[in-house]
Amino acid sequence: MPLDVQHYRSQFPVTEFSIYMNHAAVAPISQRVRDAMVGLLDEVQHFGSQHWQRWVETYSGVRRSLAQLINAEPDEIAFAKNTSEGISSFANGLGWQPGDEVVSIEGEFPANFYAWKALEKRGVVLRLVPAEEGRVSQESILRALTPRTRVVTVSFVQYLSGFRLDLEKLGQACAAHGCLLFVDAIQGLGAFPVDVRRANIAGLAADSHKWMLGPEGSALLYVNRQVMEKVTPPEIGWMSVRHSSDFSRRDLSWRDDARRYECGTLNTVGVYGLGAAVNLLLEVGIPSIAERVLDLTDRLRSGLLAQGHSVFGPRAREEASGIVSFVPRQGTAERLVEWFLANHVQVASRLGMVRISPHFYNTEEEIDRVLEISREVESLGVKNSLGRRTHRLPCTTPP
Ligand SMILES: Cc1ncc(COP(=O)(O)O)c(C=O)c1O
Repeated sequence: MPLDVQHYRSQFPVTEFSIYMNHAAVAPISQRVRDAMVGLLDEVQHFGSQHWQRWVETYSGVRRSLAQLINAEPDEIAFAKNTSEGISSFANGLGWQPGDEVVSIEGEFPANFYAWKALEKRGVVLRLVPAEEGRVSQESILRALTPRTRVVTVSFVQYLSGFRLDLEKLGQACAAHGCLLFVDAIQGLGAFPVDVRRANIAGLAADSHKWMLGPEGSALLYVNRQVMEKVTPPEIGWMSVRHSSDFSRRDLSWRDDARRYECGTLNTVGVYGLGAAVNLLLEVGIPSIAERVLDLTDRLRSGLLAQGHSVFGPRAREEASGIVSFVPRQGTAERLVEWFLANHVQVASRLGMVRISPHFYNTEEEIDRVLEISREVESLGVKNSLGRRTHRLPCTTPP
């Protein structure tokens, strides 16, 4: 059945105010996500923790939804506060020997760099594979593997080029080599299918505030069951242990499941938001979302290329994503982003490029409007266009 864009658009009040194409930064939440979170806040305001049993049931339900999203088991899902915390738990939880190696990609978003870089003080060697024009070939990653490689850690989708890795191919190669694959999935999860079983992924982390259309500070950490015993919780608290509800006990034995990585009280309002967000995505259907996002970015990329902009990153559909970045033909990225904002279009500038990132509820007409604005700038010149600015939206663009 074709995706009913208009139906779902009504879930996103942001569409009444602007053309929102900044999902690679922070997504606007849907009405359902807002209602779930406000509903919980209302409940706590009026009843305190009286209905806590329902919260516990909700945690379980959201774990099930997240497991469905990535084809994992619910007991392999931990809630985390953000992607970085998930990466850090996995990286620090593994037992390392001096000389062990980690392979990653040059120019990754820093969240998937520092946690691994910090292992150097434990004698771990971090090898970075260069990206070319934003693309990373599987072969170059595989060439970097040595007998000492323990982990390959990659973004599913690169934050600037939008290059989307074939995780299944990479996961199979990692399995054949005998090393673990870890994925920072934040720039793709919610918009593109991820199957942790088929891709043989050992660990994965993603906050919900980008392509999952959830709130900030509510993330998942997936740790594969077979690997869990090798990933000791680096953050330890009363919730990490098997007998967490018996406060008289003091034996330090980890929970049997991924809850061992949740050291204390959860961000319940965040979990409610995350659950509503994921359920909306599952209802729409990830394969349909993926096709739609690719259609939109394809249209955008072709239009920008036709205008003579220098588009960075992949063009082939199997490597593309929801991110299109380009160096403007004239003027700076920052000024162009300001001009877009003055015209009620929200995009971002990153490293001298304009980054545009539409989601499934954006329309072809909105893409065409974005192209029209960019053409206007060309004909007026960015400087003059900004001089003619009429109205500025009261917002900033976070990372
Ligand atoms: C690839 C990637 N990883 C991680 C993050 C953010 O990490 P966190 O959820 O820890 O803030 C971003 C944000 O832009 C990103 O692009």
